[in-house]
Amino acid sequence: MSTALETLAAGEFEQLQLLRRGPGPLTAVMVVHDTRCGPGFGGIRCRRYADPAAAVRDALALAQAMTLKCAITGLPAGGAKTVILDRDGLDRAAAFRLVGDHVEAMAGRYYTGPDLGTTDADLLLVAERTAFVARPDAAGPGDLADSTAVGVFAALRATAGAIGRDIDGLRVAVQGLGAVGMRLARRLHAAGARLSVADVVAGRAAAAADELAAEVLPIAAILGADCDVLAPCAGGGVLDREAATALRARAVCGAANNVFADAATGRLLHARGIPVAPDFVANAGALLHGATFHLTGRALPSAQIAERLHELTTEILQASRRDDQPPGEVALARARARLAATPPSPWFARRRS
Ligand code: NAI
Repeated sequence: MSTALETLAAGEFEQLQLLRRGPGPLTAVMVVHDTRCGPGFGGIRCRRYADPAAAVRDALALAQAMTLKCAITGLPAGGAKTVILDRDGLDRAAAFRLVGDHVEAMAGRYYTGPDLGTTDADLLLVAERTAFVARPDAAGPGDLADSTAVGVFAALRATAGAIGRDIDGLRVAVQGLGAVGMRLARRLHAAGARLSVADVVAGRAAAAADELAAEVLPIAAILGADCDVLAPCAGGGVLDREAATALRARAVCGAANNVFADAATGRLLHARGIPVAPDFVANAGALLHGATFHLTGRALPSAQIAERLHELTTEILQASRRDDQPPGEVALARARARLAATPPSPWFARRRS
């Protein structure tokens, strides 16, 4: 994996801001990756990082994933992202308000919303400072984590189809039962799937056992669970060479952004005959709904999100088989082709870095 410095030197983004509240540790990193197709969309991630370089690397990779999501789904929008560096003593409310101030200052070049580690209460703090945020209340687009879960469920149905299965009776292992993972698990259970689950917060796994008759697995066992489909719904980079070699699932489809530690892992799973729904396709539901709401003022019905992402995942997995190319690379080529063919938006013409 390239270092943050190499990525910065390659200049594969439009704008990067380091946000700080006076002297002291870095508070947040904000990236606008690519506005060729339209203004940048990307949520706020709040988590602990080993060091500031890791936070910059994560923000760049996540913003790039947003660009790919917009490109492949045909939205008139581009990629952006913010990460907040969680730490002991962080003034959380002040950090989210600071992000809100900077989003506001970008005057529509960047729309933000939820991501891992960010709650509805946090988003309301951002909304105190800017209108360019997916409000979690009645004035906003609604429950975006649910839109993501709707999309992942549809992509998972398409992925199950690629191994000749339906959701009914399918054995699915879900890693992470947060905003998206739990909503996905409920949908899978309702459709007849049998669940194995794990979460570092023990109470979340126990709740899924009670409510959904899920089998609770140790954290270290979930990626190698004996199942039909693995659904990673926690952090990124969880599938590395070791995990891919040990994988017992017949297919992979989840919500986690940038699920592969590197591109070689995607090729390894393809060589093993394990179809993997590209993460930036499967988890595009919130983006489809949120961007449509902000850009047109209309809500996007869940059925349309499901139909679009089922169709797209099916097409990509079929092309992967036909051309003997990993699904992630098929999706990447399609996204890049759209970026190359799109006339630059006014935001792109005014870009800075
Ligand atoms: P969240 O923070 O609500 O949930 C993550 C869950 O994973 C938590 O319950 C956490 O305890 C658990 N977890 C963390 N490390 C774990 C591990 N090693 N093993 C098992 N469980 C672990 O986050 P959210 O919003 O549900 O996002 C999940 C993933 O989906 C992230 O990668 C995020 O970037 C991605 N995503 C989320 C979207 C959304 O609408 N919230 C949209 C698109 C992607």
